[in-house]
Amino acid sequence: MKKLTIPDIIKRKGGEKLTMLTAYDASFARLLDSAGVDMILVGDSLGNVLLGYESTVPVTMDEMIHHASAVRRGTSAFVVGDMPFLSYQVSVQDTIKNAGRFFKEAGCDAVKLEGGPEICEAVRALVAAGMPVMGHIGLTPQTASSLGGYKVQGKDAKSAQKLLADARALAEAGVFAIVMECIPDKLAKVITENVAVPTIGIGAGVFCDGQVLVTHDLLGMFDKFVPSFVKGYVNLSPQIKDAIAAFSQEVKSGSFPDEKHSFTIQVDVDQLVTDDGDA
Ligand code: KIV
Repeated sequence: MKKLTIPDIIKRKGGEKLTMLTAYDASFARLLDSAGVDMILVGDSLGNVLLGYESTVPVTMDEMIHHASAVRRGTSAFVVGDMPFLSYQVSVQDTIKNAGRFFKEAGCDAVKLEGGPEICEAVRALVAAGMPVMGHIGLTPQTASSLGGYKVQGKDAKSAQKLLADARALAEAGVFAIVMECIPDKLAKVITENVAVPTIGIGAGVFCDGQVLVTHDLLGMFDKFVPSFVKGYVNLSPQIKDAIAAFSQEVKSGSFPDEKHSFTIQVDVDQLVTDDGDA
């Protein structure tokens, strides 16, 4: 599939819905690409899903670059690198250096940052330096504890108003799309109708310009915590466990490897050196 450009993505506002899914390695990137996903997000959900952290907070720049580079090797699709916690909050100079690694070392096409007006200076600097930025508002996992945990955001008029203002500030600062996580569908509709760039929902209802999910969630491969907004399209965990248990059982019983999975060609074993060194 032809890689989307930033103008292609912006043009999809109000038109054909955009699709984005997460990948952290080349093999999943290849699968998503061959299934025709528009954008691949190397999310910092990497921390929970693959690295065994309790949250996304411990994820480092080096970890993100390692996995984003692997994704790039598996696909020529549009890849977004998620900037980890504290990689864009310290200084604008630091932000540009860290974001630059996603483009120069990992070959990403854009970066994603969580937050509202407090990150707009960083967004402006990145866009001015030629690095496209995707915003992320609503439930922002890197600062979830300040938001009261993993909860629906924008439920009352004041916080809904703030989210609309956040989206407008990001669009004004130059983001090309905004992820909206865990907000009421009617608020997502109002925001979508009031910003010029596409909105990409996750737990934000049907009115967004696109949708994103964590791939391992929709495949039923990560059962530690699955948010209620996730639709499981298949439940692979039991099938994976059954296959692994069958392998173990067959190895122990001696039924694997059988002849079909062995090289049963003639070899002159009589000439081999034996344990005591005699030919
Ligand atoms: O890290 C991630 O996977 C994300 C998505 C949930 C949007 O930010």
